[in-house]
Amino acid sequence: MQIFIDSADVKQIETWLAQGVVDGATTNPSIMYKDGVKDVEQGARQLAALLGDRPLSVEVTSNDHAVMLDQARLFATWARNIVIKIPIVNQFGESSLGVIHQLTQEGIGVNATAILAFNQAILAAKAGATYVSIFGGRVADEGGDPAIVIRNVRSWLDDWDLPARIIVGSIRAVIDIQSAALAGAHIITIPPQFLPKMVDHQYTRETVRQFVQDAEKTATLIREAKAGVSTAAGR
Ligand code: E4P
Repeated sequence: MQIFIDSADVKQIETWLAQGVVDGATTNPSIMYKDGVKDVEQGARQLAALLGDRPLSVEVTSNDHAVMLDQARLFATWARNIVIKIPIVNQFGESSLGVIHQLTQEGIGVNATAILAFNQAILAAKAGATYVSIFGGRVADEGGDPAIVIRNVRSWLDDWDLPARIIVGSIRAVIDIQSAALAGAHIITIPPQFLPKMVDHQYTRETVRQFVQDAEKTATLIREAKAGVSTAAGR
């Protein structure tokens, strides 16, 4: 399973890349806004360079399918590792599958985003999306069970041997990450604030404290033994 970071924050991405746990990054217009990216092109180019060969998802910002296509083609020129996020429908419920299909025909990687249901995921995969982004937190907002959606999409992709990879996003708590991992997500995109919570544990700290304390006791014993030997030799 891969881990992406759901962020446009350069410092956070640098930090977690250095920890060796980041396989890519996802953004959307809300994340860009929250993380203070004022120039999308400059921000995307910077993040893409930081990520090296790892994919960076950048989302189109229009409801108009022709504009989505133009933006996608432009964004894809900014860096080789940029993947274009296309919402499965626009805000009027009009299908974006044609845009997804056209871009994949042109060799541009597509992350079909804002997916909340099995039906949407299978159609996005059929249209050629590289990634299908299931918004787990938003599925749960609506009373759905994200684990069921993820498990069903995963088993359908496996049954039909389709190459689309599931990204689970919209993570609201660490438990969502665990559930998504066990439900069969290929990738989970994690907001950076959850990574320290995943790595830390009170009892691990206590365990390490005990080891450090006992190592200090051993060092004291060794020092005392050496001092005893030299005192005896000096007599
Ligand atoms: C990831 O690709 C999504 O853009 C993101 O996780 C959405 O999260 P939200 O539901 O908190 O907006």
